[in-house]
Amino acid sequence: MAESNDLEALAADAARRWPGRTFQVLEEAGSTNDVAKEAARAGALPGLVVVADHQSAGRGRAGRAWHSPPGAGLYLSTFVAAPPIATRIPLAAAVATHEALAALIPSGPLALKWPNDVFASGKKLAGILCEGLARGIVVGIGVNVAHASFPPELTATATSLTLLGARIDRTSVALRLVDALDAWLPRAASDWPGIRAAWSAASATLGRTVRVGTIEGTATALDDDGALVLDTATGRQRVVAGDVG
Ligand code: BTN
Repeated sequence: MAESNDLEALAADAARRWPGRTFQVLEEAGSTNDVAKEAARAGALPGLVVVADHQSAGRGRAGRAWHSPPGAGLYLSTFVAAPPIATRIPLAAAVATHEALAALIPSGPLALKWPNDVFASGKKLAGILCEGLARGIVVGIGVNVAHASFPPELTATATSLTLLGARIDRTSVALRLVDALDAWLPRAASDWPGIRAAWSAASATLGRTVRVGTIEGTATALDDDGALVLDTATGRQRVVAGDVG
């Protein structure tokens, strides 16, 4: 486990808070998303949570790697039942992650970049990778918690709770995050207007001229599927995947 062993209490705290829930705390995983997918395929119930101290093959969106050293990041995956419109889950997860982290940052607001990156002071604090299964969806969240520094290739683009002045251990972040996920993920089925309003209020994307792949335009809204609606020179276009630049 981490040098500071700040995940030591997590399994016991989670068992007290959520009796009956499968909550695995591992020293190492290739990817916690893979562990959660495997467990789901083997019959685990929705609500399953997997946390690892470090990942040897942490994944980000678009085939990128997720920097996953020991003792620094929170690497958490949960398995949920798919709502009728599954593409709402990444936005609901973004709102939950934003809510869990926003109150921890004394230095300024957190912002969401479509679809679900959490930014602070112009640098990425947390990312989300959702992967669909026949029985549901695995939502994987990486939060940079205690990194005092990043490798040179990430220094300009990544930040952590510690670097932002927040003093909190990974167990506390994990408990806050699961509370927020429990509150927001079910609303993907029951309260899309609520998710859309919360996402829009936290968004650093809406109202800006952005480029996603080859499409450039002003981001005006999320549609009912969670796609980003752009007003472009040739009319309205919806974007379902990609990186906002
Ligand atoms: C991104 O911003 O590109 C998404 C990053 C998602 C990282 C998390 S860490 C926990 C889970 N396991 C993984 O391999 N990826 C996600």
